[in-house]
Amino acid sequence: MAEKETGQLSEAQIAVHWREEKYLHPSTKFIAQANMTDKTICDRFSLDNFPDCFKEYADLLDWYKYWDTILDTSDAPCWKWFAGGKINAAYNCVDRHLDKHKNKTAIHFVSELESERIEHITYQELYVRVNEVAALLQDFAGLKKGDTVTLHLPMTPDLPITMLACARLGIIHCEVFGGFSGRACADRIIDSKSNVLITIDGYHRGGRFIDHKKNADTAVNLAKKDGQAVDKVLVWHRYPEKYLSPTPMVEGRDYSINDLLKNYRGKRIEPVQMLAEDPLFLMYTSGTTGKPKGCQHSTGGYLAYATGTSKYVQDIHPEDVYWCMADIGWITGHSYIVYGPLALGASTVIYEGVPTYPDAGRCWRIAEELDVNIFHTAPTVIRALRKVGPDEPAKYNYHFKLMTTVGEPIEPEVWRWYYKVIGKSEAVIVDTWWQTETGGFLCSTMPATNLMKPGSAGPGLPGIHPVIYDEDGNELNAETGAAGNICIRNPWPGAFQTIWGDRDRYVSNYYARYCKNKDSKDWRDWPYLAGDAAMVAKDGYFRILGRIDDVINVSGHRLGTKEIESASLDIVEVAEAAVVPVADDMKGTVPDLYVSLKPGYEPTEELASRISEGVCEAIGKIARPRKVWIVNDMPKTRSGKIMRRILGAISNGKDIGDASTLANPEIVEEIKKKVSN
Ligand code: WT7
Repeated sequence: MAEKETGQLSEAQIAVHWREEKYLHPSTKFIAQANMTDKTICDRFSLDNFPDCFKEYADLLDWYKYWDTILDTSDAPCWKWFAGGKINAAYNCVDRHLDKHKNKTAIHFVSELESERIEHITYQELYVRVNEVAALLQDFAGLKKGDTVTLHLPMTPDLPITMLACARLGIIHCEVFGGFSGRACADRIIDSKSNVLITIDGYHRGGRFIDHKKNADTAVNLAKKDGQAVDKVLVWHRYPEKYLSPTPMVEGRDYSINDLLKNYRGKRIEPVQMLAEDPLFLMYTSGTTGKPKGCQHSTGGYLAYATGTSKYVQDIHPEDVYWCMADIGWITGHSYIVYGPLALGASTVIYEGVPTYPDAGRCWRIAEELDVNIFHTAPTVIRALRKVGPDEPAKYNYHFKLMTTVGEPIEPEVWRWYYKVIGKSEAVIVDTWWQTETGGFLCSTMPATNLMKPGSAGPGLPGIHPVIYDEDGNELNAETGAAGNICIRNPWPGAFQTIWGDRDRYVSNYYARYCKNKDSKDWRDWPYLAGDAAMVAKDGYFRILGRIDDVINVSGHRLGTKEIESASLDIVEVAEAAVVPVADDMKGTVPDLYVSLKPGYEPTEELASRISEGVCEAIGKIARPRKVWIVNDMPKTRSGKIMRRILGAISNGKDIGDASTLANPEIVEEIKKKVSN
């Protein structure tokens, strides 16, 4: 693989030298109850049976009308799954369970405050709340099918209720991760062209009550400057009868949802019959340029895929208590806290706060109290739990049958601790590789029919046919032992439909790289480029090595280096900025930020922290640089390009290789000295 300037290659190289790990078997007890024990499923989902095989997933849902064409490729590579079919996502996640399960818990809401009792929302109650909010969105906010609305909500039940109310009406919801800043929220309001913002007064996090409403004021003001008017801000209250934000409500613009709901008591809204190919939501993610991409997900294809993978990969049964400890503000939460589990009629846990608050035992007390049997989290959380309380899980009486890891590669050592200590050597682990764009899992073992191998995601799931290409488009098989660009040969129902408002970027980022004929309407000509380096072992298991683009994976979430760089360039003193990923024991990678200053400015601690704060303000605390290095100059090529690869090597304490061809090789020693001190 050609060496990239980003420093990502070194990460890949380490992984390539990992040794093969020993397999582990799922227990007979697990297999005996599993949803999918049929080993021939992969034959049923072979390329010969593509695309018809995906009817099996669609049939997990209730349709108003079946599709005319299972896969319409006429606008390749914008795929239309189940084209002409009619369906409603909220109906599938709520209404259809009422007959049998109306009295069953749909959502267990766990406040961060342990003194507050867990709230158990039944399917009947979810139905009532979703309908009343839908009535409000329609009659008060004037929203209708096809409109976009931005949600900036943290982890309380108000978020899934709002999402489902939107889905009921065919309103496209665009949820912005609650931890993102007002600025980041504004960018998404502008891009999605939302006239309405839905937010909350505040929430508990890490032992504090966060004033969230103030972000809405920032977001609306910044959006206005860019020509996007938000006429209504709808504000949930964390506690229905109180308003706890110190930021006042703005008259004529801000409205309390909890107050307004009193006018909609008992209102019922017929679910709108949506076309399968109508968009359900946008989820923004980072890419190589500064602007986040609005991944547009479909109604029918997305829901079918999220539901099918929830059922077969996470083995969710209606009687299970399922806890995914991600945030609904990311794709993981959309697919695997809200849509997948609720479509299956399971009970899904929503936990408001920090996993280790107030102490290392919190997660296990929740698991014990609710008798959670399926647990889903990310390597960064597993590492943190291992650090703060390696012996904690044994003290609690809970038993998981299945556990999921997602978001970044997991080290085999960490995997084994997850298995032995959190899983008590009973739970099957699935390491699921996928992306915001893909709607659902792509590679993973099937829990009852494949063996587990620590550190490897696994083979392509049923109907997913991955392939690794080198830079020239040659296939790299297991014999080559080489890493390359992982692609998927075929479309699948969960795949995003386009980048909102930017089809060209969609085609060029994801489909142009290995397409042989741009006019082709045949899906075989359009392999999907995931943007990850990977290799495949002889057993057909894929090992994911990291991003091939300018993206840093912090705690399993993507941050574009360009986003961070452009935020620091907004500080007047800064002349140049370069961001590189640094390996971190807990978070996988974190950003290091190098800046040089305009003439006449002095490097000070105060300036460095101002730059750091500027980045947090622009994006959110998740993007906070490990360190801001103010340097006299950047290492540059003779053509003036900043050599991020060299900065990356310095930050990671690695060999910088040959720097002699630089325009200014002397700067390298100077920076090295500074960083190693
Ligand atoms: C990137 C996608 C998809 C949910 C959360 C992140 C990395 C994801 C794994 C895994 C190794 C993984 C990839 C991917 N990634 N899952 N199991 N093993 N790497 O969504 O923010 O869209 O990030 O996360 O690099 O491209 P995202």
